[in-house]
Amino acid sequence: MKGVSIIGVGLTKFGEHWNAGFRELISEAAGKAITDAHVDGQDVQAIFGGCMASGRLLGQEHIGALIADQLGMNPVASTRLEAACASGGVALRAGIMAVASGAYDVVAVGGAEKMTEVSTEEASTALGGAGDQEWELFNGATFPALYALMARRHMQEYGTSEEQMAACAVKNHANAVNNEFARYRKAVTIADVMKSGYIASPLKLLDCSPITDGAATVILCSSEKAKKYCDTPVEIIASGQASDTLALAQRTTLTEMKATKEAARQAYTQAKIQAKDVDFAEVHDCFTIAEVMATEDLGFFEKGKGGPAAAAGETALNAKVSINASGGLKAKGHPVGATGIAQAVEATLQLQQRAGKRQVSNAEIGLTHNVGGSGATCVVHVYKRL
Ligand SMILES: CC(C)(COP(=O)(O)OP(=O)(O)OC[C@H]1O[C@@H](n2cnc3c(N)ncnc32)[C@H](O)[C@@H]1OP(=O)(O)O)[C@@H](O)C(=O)NCCC(=O)NCCS
Repeated sequence: MKGVSIIGVGLTKFGEHWNAGFRELISEAAGKAITDAHVDGQDVQAIFGGCMASGRLLGQEHIGALIADQLGMNPVASTRLEAACASGGVALRAGIMAVASGAYDVVAVGGAEKMTEVSTEEASTALGGAGDQEWELFNGATFPALYALMARRHMQEYGTSEEQMAACAVKNHANAVNNEFARYRKAVTIADVMKSGYIASPLKLLDCSPITDGAATVILCSSEKAKKYCDTPVEIIASGQASDTLALAQRTTLTEMKATKEAARQAYTQAKIQAKDVDFAEVHDCFTIAEVMATEDLGFFEKGKGGPAAAAGETALNAKVSINASGGLKAKGHPVGATGIAQAVEATLQLQQRAGKRQVSNAEIGLTHNVGGSGATCVVHVYKRL
């Protein structure tokens, strides 16, 4: 297999985009990435696009073709990938495989979602399709409710508190203040989180990632040719993916994600590293309890210690391990199909020392963790400078 590197990145601002449609968001992110990579459009031999719910949210399917058409790149091979909120992560993995196999030298991998055209109720119903429609969503279990069940169980088994979960939100909002692409560039306190209204107890408004529009793109190139385009390519040294049951009711535990553990095991083995070698990670904090569990399942903290570690500041910028320097899904925003690619964009900016005031000072090894549904899909990637 060939080595694969990121040679360019592009991101739209995450937020409510009233003046840009789905197509415009894709154009903006892809255009920025192509410029950043110093490639010509004709150099891009294939496109992989992550998108979860454009059919439900916009009435638009056939996203692979739409992307190629919108970018004026027909007849390039262009394919959509869907794995709920991990759509971006699996698209990235597909792009990596395509380059690693030698089939292509340069590919574009993007992710996009336009979520704010519909009401919160309609968006929640569309997102609920990532769980088990028959046993969960039909009975009213939306995603805040499913993660609330995990939070309650974690609190019962390990004594995790609402304040410890709130610490994740406080830290991610603080990081987002320094991210021009983030949706909420506003610091919040533990008291702010605690007094925000319950969405699904024990999760409150400020424990939840927001429904958001956005798009992201990375340009991948075989590592052997990467320096032809880019002085500071970032190599993806591992890609792990795993699955678990769709419904929470069929899990043997609610307090860990087996798919995360397996994807991480694969990634650490490929990269020949251990969790302690990771300097920074973008983890899938769709709810604060998800960040607590991710930091445990990825091996940064023992099971049950993720909450106390967050409260003690061990996951803050430049602390023991910098978690979600970008602001994470919580404060940067979570346009579901774009999230996995936006995480790769942040990993690249950090390793290229381009992250400005949120720069992780010792950024040598980065990790991204992208989850679909309540943990039925997980993708983990590891990055370092080429
Ligand atoms: C939490 C949630 C239900 C709030 O939706 P809502 O009640 O319709 O909120 P609104 O859109 O009416 O916004 C009300 C206010 O709260 C803010 N807000 C909304 N969601 C927010 C969030 N997650 N964090 C911080 N502020 C938020 C809005 O900006 C708005 O502020 P304003 O009054 O100053 O303009 C919604 O954000 C949600 O469902 N999030 C989870 C999404 C999800 O499940 N993703 C998939 C995960 S697997």
